[in-house]
Amino acid sequence: MTDLVATARSFFEPGKGILAADESVATATTRLASYGIETGPEMRRAFRNLFCDAEGIEAYLSGVIFFSETLLEKGDDHVRFPKSLAVRGIHPGIKVDLGKEPFPESPKEMITKGLIDLSERLVSYKKAGAVFTKWRAVIRIEGDKLPSAQALHENAKRLASYAREAQMAGMVPIVEPEVLLEGTHSRKKSRAVIEETMQTLFSMLAEHSVDRASLILKTSMALSGDRTGKKDTPEEVAEDTLAALMASVPQQIAGVVFLSGGQSPDQATDNLAAITKRAQEFGAPWPLTFSYARALQEEALALWRGKEENVPAAREAFLARLQKLSAVLGQSVERMLA
Ligand code: G3H
Repeated sequence: MTDLVATARSFFEPGKGILAADESVATATTRLASYGIETGPEMRRAFRNLFCDAEGIEAYLSGVIFFSETLLEKGDDHVRFPKSLAVRGIHPGIKVDLGKEPFPESPKEMITKGLIDLSERLVSYKKAGAVFTKWRAVIRIEGDKLPSAQALHENAKRLASYAREAQMAGMVPIVEPEVLLEGTHSRKKSRAVIEETMQTLFSMLAEHSVDRASLILKTSMALSGDRTGKKDTPEEVAEDTLAALMASVPQQIAGVVFLSGGQSPDQATDNLAAITKRAQEFGAPWPLTFSYARALQEEALALWRGKEENVPAAREAFLARLQKLSAVLGQSVERMLA
């Protein structure tokens, strides 16, 4: 087993998952503003510190994905974030794409950019301590028109080029084609689009000779669009999510992680519970876990509000959510061993 394969597999230690703390400066600013927090570089550092310096996270987290700004910053302990995580056995990672731009051939769709100087950036990220990477593409559903085959193809091609470069640089790639929750589509439509997205992606990954064993897939769950007003049950979500992935994701990959995509913390926890249960019934070949941003941070941010005196309560809420998610994964391990 190569080091890269071992690292990729180690994200799926029982009961552990990944914190996506990789909001860009623009996204972090909007996110924090929604809690009444005014941001600048120091407030963003305090935001990362709130989560990364919380005592006991190593029991629940196998990795944290950072935005480039945070990689060189220090926590309140005066230690750089990647180092303080690594000493606690948590892999530091980095979002390497440079955001989205409109796709000229279908202007309502977005294509992710960041390939041009990627190899040089990977060298500097690795030097700063990152051992894994992430690239996110967004797939929008609109009636039967979107996603277009061209946008799916172009995003998949760029995800594959990135994944190949990351592996060549000795870093684990997480490929994240996020099928957006926004829209009026049905859950069945979301399932079909996830399946088509993964088929396009995995054929492109094969064309680019990406090693599957050291690759992690980050995916959305199959959900009804947020403008339908429909609340899918966890069992419905699990059924359609697993059906889409079983039909399109090769068994050799290191594992599958889920994004929360705008679900509430409870929804993202209950749906993950149902998915892990159904995965065992289906005999899914890959390990599964969470890689949430919003669903992991929301409750803590509402308590923190950017104030030092609220840090203990905010961390308590963060730890409580991690415990709930971990318990959900733990139950699945217990079922497997039973
Ligand atoms: O890029 C998105 C993150 O990796 C996941 O964020 O859990 O808030 O959807 P989310």
